[in-house]
Amino acid sequence: MSGLIMVTGATGGLGGDVLDFLLKRVPAERLAGLARKPEDLAHLAERGVTVRQGDYDDPDSLVAAFRGVDKLLLVSAKSFTDAKTAHRNVIRAAKEAGVRHIHYTAIQRRPGSAFVLPQVTEWDEYTENELTASGLDVTVLRNSQYLEAFDMLIGAITPDRVVRVPVGDTPIALATRGDMAEATAAVLASDGHEGRSYTLTGSKSFTLADYTDVVGEITGSPVTHEQISAEDYIGRLLDAGTPDQWAPFLAAWFQAMEAGEFSPGDDVERLIGRPTTSLRSVVAQRRAS
Ligand SMILES: NC(=O)c1ccc[n+]([C@@H]2O[C@H](COP(=O)([O-])OP(=O)(O)OC[C@H]3O[C@@H](n4cnc5c(N)ncnc54)[C@H](OP(=O)(O)O)[C@@H]3O)[C@@H](O)[C@H]2O)c1
Repeated sequence: MSGLIMVTGATGGLGGDVLDFLLKRVPAERLAGLARKPEDLAHLAERGVTVRQGDYDDPDSLVAAFRGVDKLLLVSAKSFTDAKTAHRNVIRAAKEAGVRHIHYTAIQRRPGSAFVLPQVTEWDEYTENELTASGLDVTVLRNSQYLEAFDMLIGAITPDRVVRVPVGDTPIALATRGDMAEATAAVLASDGHEGRSYTLTGSKSFTLADYTDVVGEITGSPVTHEQISAEDYIGRLLDAGTPDQWAPFLAAWFQAMEAGEFSPGDDVERLIGRPTTSLRSVVAQRRAS
């Protein structure tokens, strides 16, 4: 195989991690990162990775950046941006520049689910249609919510030690961003993934009761869980100063959990050759001090 493997969003958490894992598997001269400000990728350029300037909102910059690229990872655009246009620009530029194979980071969904995660699922459906229409080889990487993001969303434990969120006892399986990045690098670095999709999620599920048990053990003081309505949760976030557009967005992630969108799977485990990072390990790292 010849041609570059390029990662967009290379200055970000996921894209940066994917490139770090790719460097363990592929010679640096075969790797490239896209950035709006190339100087932000100086650390990768120093390691021999090709750095190209490109902006999802500037199609010409993308066509120039994608020349000589064989495999492209499109890291999805951020929430509350015009992601449909951004993704369409990337896909069309990839086609024009002669990219052979495009990989896209969608969100994990329950098979056949009609659940709408605002700012996410509609974009994914649109983008996957654009990918199919492009005629390029396509691989879709369906990422769970980041396990770290789940713990971050729960936030500080209140003085009464009750976690109040709009989810009950539904089992949830999540992988860390690092595990998903490692699995994505494994796909990008190997052949035979055309036309396939992978669900990058935790090997094991947990419930809110499991979560509060772990937090209680790690912090040395028992924690309990109370399921509240989404409206109540949103009201609490707004009272705490969360911006208007973010409060329902954050609630929707819990509603997705309640709807059973994040079920366990073994794709990450198979791709990285070990079970996914445990809930306990993530909570310990984030809450030990
Ligand atoms: N599954 C989850 O739990 C979860 C959580 C958070 C986000 N996400 C999704 O996954 C994506 C990656 O997550 P992350 O944690 O890596 O996010 P992140 O750290 O915020 O990184 C976003 C990346 O996108 C790049 N970007 C933004 N706008 C761009 C544009 N117009 N043109 C080119 N590049 C642009 C940023 O580059 P600059 O340096 O130029 O800004 C940055 O490298 C997010 O964008 C979001 O869609 C998923």
